[in-house]
Amino acid sequence: MPKPKLPDSIVPAPLRKPAKPGAAGTAKGKAPADLKTSPPPRKGDVERLTDRAVEAPVDVLAWVDQRTAASGILTGMLFRKVPKGTNWFYTLGSATLFAFIVQATTGVFLAMFYTPSATQAYASISHINNEVPLGALVHGMHKWGSSVMVILIFLHMGRTFFFGAYKYPRELNWVIGVVLLILTMTMAFTGYLLPFDQRSFWASIVGININGTGPIVGPYLSDFLRAGPELGATTLSRFYAIHMLLVPGAIIALIGAHMYLVMKLGTTAPPWLKAERPKPATPVSQLDGGAEGDAGGNGAAGA
Ligand code: HEM
Repeated sequence: MPKPKLPDSIVPAPLRKPAKPGAAGTAKGKAPADLKTSPPPRKGDVERLTDRAVEAPVDVLAWVDQRTAASGILTGMLFRKVPKGTNWFYTLGSATLFAFIVQATTGVFLAMFYTPSATQAYASISHINNEVPLGALVHGMHKWGSSVMVILIFLHMGRTFFFGAYKYPRELNWVIGVVLLILTMTMAFTGYLLPFDQRSFWASIVGININGTGPIVGPYLSDFLRAGPELGATTLSRFYAIHMLLVPGAIIALIGAHMYLVMKLGTTAPPWLKAERPKPATPVSQLDGGAEGDAGGNGAAGA
């Protein structure tokens, strides 16, 4: 498939194709103005500086592109064929991605003020909510955003399931998705303990005990999560490390793999669209070269 043309504004001047005569304001058949007899008016210093400033962002992009060939990757990513019938349900994956980005961004700011200590965690959250400028907003976005992300990821999974997008050749992307779902739930679970108030304390005990009822690995998992005989300071440190370092890193890597596969394989058409029937093959004798070809249908040999 030929690659779509990049917009002229992001192609650096030396690589740009000159406009055809008659196009882009060049009169057809007319010689260009004689620069000696009628030179264009000279621009003043300020005008030239303004021109450079206007071109600067494009120049920077072109500079980076010449050294990274990133526009090729972007073209492949942005100019993709989209199946007929693509609808709003296909936006749920991107919505989940957006929710994750919001969580990551607000989380970074919360981490600047949060203290992961059994004696100071609660006070640091109160400080964020009551004294830090916009702290309550950022904390609220992170807290409610976690539920939004969990809801969106389930809706996105439902979409891919009901549209049959888990089938060949997308099984691996489904498996990556399942791991992403488990990791997202882990984020929501470990984040819940961090304020270290009564509600988060007792809810985490319930959650850890539920994990302990799982077959074979259950008891080991709950011991690992509790990080000691009772829920306490070591549990908080462990949950904080899982919430801040371990799981976000894994989620970022897996989202990268998930997106790579979406790019490589494209998205599935909705199941209610019938697959197009393949066109019947044209007999070789009716093809251009075939008319003059030999009886074996080898058009080139007869030409
Ligand atoms: C952090 C979580 C996730 C993010 C950010 C994410 C993002 C995306 C995006 C942007 C797409 C392409 C557009 C679309 O179809 O919506 C996609 C496709 C897909 N996702 Fe996810 N996803 C996540 C979790 C999951 C989960 C939990 C599953 C299933 C268990 C899953 C399975 C799939 C599959 C099979 C496709 C291909 C869809 C198709 O070919 O039509 N994803 N994902």
